[in-house]
Amino acid sequence: MNTGDFDLKSYLSAKRALIDRALDRWLPAATGFSAPVKEAMRYSVGAGGKRIRPILILAGGQAVRANEHHLLPAACAMECLHTYSLIHDDLPAMDNDDLRRGKPTCHRIFGEALAILAGDALLTLAFELMTRPELTSGIHPERINRAVFVLAKAAGENGMVGGQAADILNEGKTVEPQVLNYIHYHKTAALLGASVEIGAILGGGHEEDIIRLRRYGQTLGLAFQIKDDILDIEGDQEIIGKPIGSDERQKKVTYPSVFGIETAKAKALELLREAISLLDPFDHEAEPLRAIARYVIDRKR
Ligand code: IPE
Ligand code: IPE
Ligand code: MG
Ligand code: MG
Ligand code: MG
Repeated sequence: MNTGDFDLKSYLSAKRALIDRALDRWLPAATGFSAPVKEAMRYSVGAGGKRIRPILILAGGQAVRANEHHLLPAACAMECLHTYSLIHDDLPAMDNDDLRRGKPTCHRIFGEALAILAGDALLTLAFELMTRPELTSGIHPERINRAVFVLAKAAGENGMVGGQAADILNEGKTVEPQVLNYIHYHKTAALLGASVEIGAILGGGHEEDIIRLRRYGQTLGLAFQIKDDILDIEGDQEIIGKPIGSDERQKKVTYPSVFGIETAKAKALELLREAISLLDPFDHEAEPLRAIARYVIDRKR
């Protein structure tokens, strides 16, 4: 495993710039009678964020030697869908948070009705971008169909929405580890796993690579949520751009709350090693995925 000389910082900033330019191009202009909802969409997407899911689509594609150009609409679709999940996650009926990506949350600026609608519109825009004819020419229709299926499954009741429901329903409860794992795998790991998988599917990967890359993404996704829960306790609000202590306030079921912070850190490291070992059959083309795995654990935001 070659880990030494890959420059992750430059890689991430180049990919973020690429994704941000495409998002700006494909998000609707804030004009017309529904301008405020489009402004709200642009506000939340444009507030920034790490863009880890769209980058995982590009890096997952790179692992199977994809044409990056073919992956950009799906990468933007994933970021739109993820941003919808954040807007709704912050609503008073859910986590009731006021700060996101270093700015007031969508509902604090635009009100709850427009925040709900902006979330709905970003979710549907995701599927539009995945299937828009001029953006998908050049990709085999069966691959597109499969990628859309993966996205829908990962986003819905058997994925992120299911995890979010279990997260809310178990606030304040003492739960079995299976429930904790259900919440984390569904609310977070599903979309990270789907990101890498979609990159591999649209990139023309072979079946065994697709399956392995999905497992890498899901394993990394669980580590990502554990790290998110650790940052909610030990992070710096200025750096993470969202409120510290939100989980404690709402008595969320998290790895640190169930097992303690040291066990949570050890678990995240164990998952990092597992994720990287899943990449063993790949050569240097999976170097970004290896570096991203380490970044997920080391990150400060
Ligand atoms: C936050 O996701 C929600 C979780 C699933 C933990 P990110 O940490 O990727 O948030 P952004 O996109 O960088 O703002
Ligand atoms: C959120 O988990 C997962 C989502 C699907 C949005 P959290 O509620 O812990 O995410 P943050 O900490 O608010 O970003
Ligand atoms: Mg939440
Ligand atoms: Mg939250
Ligand atoms: Mg959190």
